[in-house]
Amino acid sequence: MLVLGIESTAHTVGVGLVDGTGKVLANERATYRPPSGSGIHPREAASHHSVALPGLIDRALEAGGMTHRDVELVAFARGPGLGPCLRTGATTARALALTLGVPLLGVNHCVAHLEVGRLLGARDPLMLYLSGGNTQIIGLAAGRYRIFGETQDIGIGNMLDKFGRLAGLDFPAGPAIEALAGKWSDRQGDGGGSPPPLMELPYGVQGMDLAFSGLLTAAKTHLERDRPVEELCYSLQETAFAAVLEVAERALAHTSKTELLLGGGVACNGRLREMAEILGRERGVKVLVPPPSLCVDNGAMMAWLGLLMHRAGVSHELEESRIDQNFRTDQVEVSWH
Ligand code: ATP
Ligand code: FE2
Repeated sequence: MLVLGIESTAHTVGVGLVDGTGKVLANERATYRPPSGSGIHPREAASHHSVALPGLIDRALEAGGMTHRDVELVAFARGPGLGPCLRTGATTARALALTLGVPLLGVNHCVAHLEVGRLLGARDPLMLYLSGGNTQIIGLAAGRYRIFGETQDIGIGNMLDKFGRLAGLDFPAGPAIEALAGKWSDRQGDGGGSPPPLMELPYGVQGMDLAFSGLLTAAKTHLERDRPVEELCYSLQETAFAAVLEVAERALAHTSKTELLLGGGVACNGRLREMAEILGRERGVKVLVPPPSLCVDNGAMMAWLGLLMHRAGVSHELEESRIDQNFRTDQVEVSWH
């Protein structure tokens, strides 16, 4: 069975192809970049996506060595995300499914990130989902993916991007912050393996939940006081990653799960991966780190979740394919496990 998946929740629009064995045949992407210095404008992102989608579909089919006629199921992100962006993906998915006469499935974006773990051989992972807009610790319990902890204000990636904008870094700022933090760590470490001292920044753990806007405000103040940007990037990363991993560790202890899956764009970060590996070794937990192309928002994970749901007998009519900007992870009944 060939499934075509469309992702369009925020900056990224993607088209992926997955076959019946779960093999990713193609995973094409395009990213809307707002003019420098400004944030995302949902309608502009949506118009970027609508222009990009036809070409992405063609490119994905070509990369996978397939034609439109080979597609047997179309899956797309119903939410959560930005309304205009979601609508663009949903409209394209509906048109494609109707034209090809194949079933259509709207899927939950966060659950799709999670199910990537199964592609990597995970059985029942706890997931640390760290992206621009989302910061959640999720795991399966009693038939649904439950959110054990999440940010109470902005997402961790959003915090990094906002800091990056203040520091004059290009959007998205995560990779540049990682590079600058690495420089500081290499230069300021004592050569004997000890890391440089951390600046004091607010540590946003509140029980099982997290918060990042206090951290952002403190970093901004230090920036205005001319602290080296490398030092700030280093301390910002260490503090934010320690906070998310602390909550993940507590959720692992609480649920007795033995696999930790990383996902979302921030999970591309090498230092986060390293810290997660240390946690895994210390707790005897298997850490699963998808390749960057499956961490960031992408169409292949939509196709893969569509396949799992379809096989479990989930279907819906066209009228039920409405987008849902606030589609929560725990709204989805997980019938495919
Ligand atoms: P969502 O819709 O799930 O919120 P998103 O639109 O934020 O997703 P993603 O591709 O999952 O899209 O994540 C983008 C985020 O990942 C950005 O905030 C970016 O700065 C961050 N990011 C990317 N690479 C790195 C990195 N190496 N280190 C830290 N953060 C990174
Ligand atoms: Fe995402």
